[in-house]
Amino acid sequence: MNFELTEEQIAVRDAARNFAQNILKPGVIERDRDQKVAHEELKQLGELGFMGMMVDQEYGGGGMDTVSYALAIEEISKVDASVSVCLSVNNSLVCYGLDKYGSEEQKRKYLVPLATGEKIGAFCLSEPEAGSDATSQRTTAFDMGDHYLLNGTKNWITNGSTASIYLVIAQTDVAAGHKGINVFILERGMEGFIVGAKEDKMGIRGSDTHTLMFNDVKVPKENRIGEDGFGFKFAMKTLSGGRIGIAAQALGIAGGAYDLALAYSKERKAFGKEISQHQAIAFKLADMATEIEAARMLVMKAANDKDSGKNYDQSGAMAKLYASKVAMEQTTEAVQIHGGYGFVKEYHVERLMRDAKITQIYEGTSEVQKIVISRGILA
Ligand code: CAA
Repeated sequence: MNFELTEEQIAVRDAARNFAQNILKPGVIERDRDQKVAHEELKQLGELGFMGMMVDQEYGGGGMDTVSYALAIEEISKVDASVSVCLSVNNSLVCYGLDKYGSEEQKRKYLVPLATGEKIGAFCLSEPEAGSDATSQRTTAFDMGDHYLLNGTKNWITNGSTASIYLVIAQTDVAAGHKGINVFILERGMEGFIVGAKEDKMGIRGSDTHTLMFNDVKVPKENRIGEDGFGFKFAMKTLSGGRIGIAAQALGIAGGAYDLALAYSKERKAFGKEISQHQAIAFKLADMATEIEAARMLVMKAANDKDSGKNYDQSGAMAKLYASKVAMEQTTEAVQIHGGYGFVKEYHVERLMRDAKITQIYEGTSEVQKIVISRGILA
């Protein structure tokens, strides 16, 4: 067993860390307050190769492994989880799905601009009545001979208005249940495709989450990904990898809060000494460090499983389940260590605490992760 990172992985981690600390940190409080997407910073991240990290170089990507990707997401999430969710969706849902299952023509037309960061993608599975119960799709796409006709509504779509390429899951054969689901590539501007209301969220406020409406959208036949009926499995397989990204995000949020709490505890004095010298705080820091290290092991194990060609449904779900719990608990502890200062925006930890919550909800709630894990155990 080798716990050492390669030189390349360290270089990727350090580049992401530098970008997060020097470029993202200065404006993160304002973006959170104003619900502003970091468009300029995302463009720069694309130029630096962070938008299609695991995509083959042939298609404009970085050809990197999942461990490098997880390290980058972790570092960016320590500072700005709104930027990291945009990266995570683009890299591990949209780019991965196209890279792995798209046709050559689809890759040339859609994957290349997504991997280079020229365009941003969105993954559209959730609906008003199909969240955890993802097989209950109401969006339909009927075969009209030379095209599909798409109708329905999607909810909670990350990058809803920032994206220009959308992977949309829809029911093509209602009677066939999950076997009658397909996935289609849609482009912004298609007639009948409406980007609806933006959600006013508790956390990750610098990412845009929208409702999308489809009214008789004509989707070319060649925009279906994979064989007829492959859509649900496409969603499940893609989400398995996406969960590693969200686990890394949760790990980063927890780590960012821990770093701030550690630094603060060495500066702040109470009862005649730094608060880190009081056992009540020192023990909190010890627990935080231990929990975060345990989460890191699970995230790296899942990423390594994916890189070595093993099944990662279980390990990805475990990593997400545990890291998101750690994020919620340890950001709360970081606020506690900061006392009253932790409750104000200037000190960053209250934002990290708000951002942590979504990691227990999106790309499958904690309960969904337990379904995946328990089914694996009991199979
Ligand atoms: N790989 C391949 N196939 C899979 C699979 C996987 N990982 N998981 C399930 N399948 C297949 C099953 O084998 C089955 O196929 P067969 O009938 O041919 O055997 C089919 O899919 C249906 O599977 P289940 O019977 O297990 O389906 P279920 O209805 O019991 O649901 C679930 C399982 C795990 C709860 C699933 O519905 C799920 O993951 N739900 C959560 C959805 C989710 O994560 N949504 C997040 C939205 S995206 C997002 O949040 C992005 C963002 O913006 C940040």
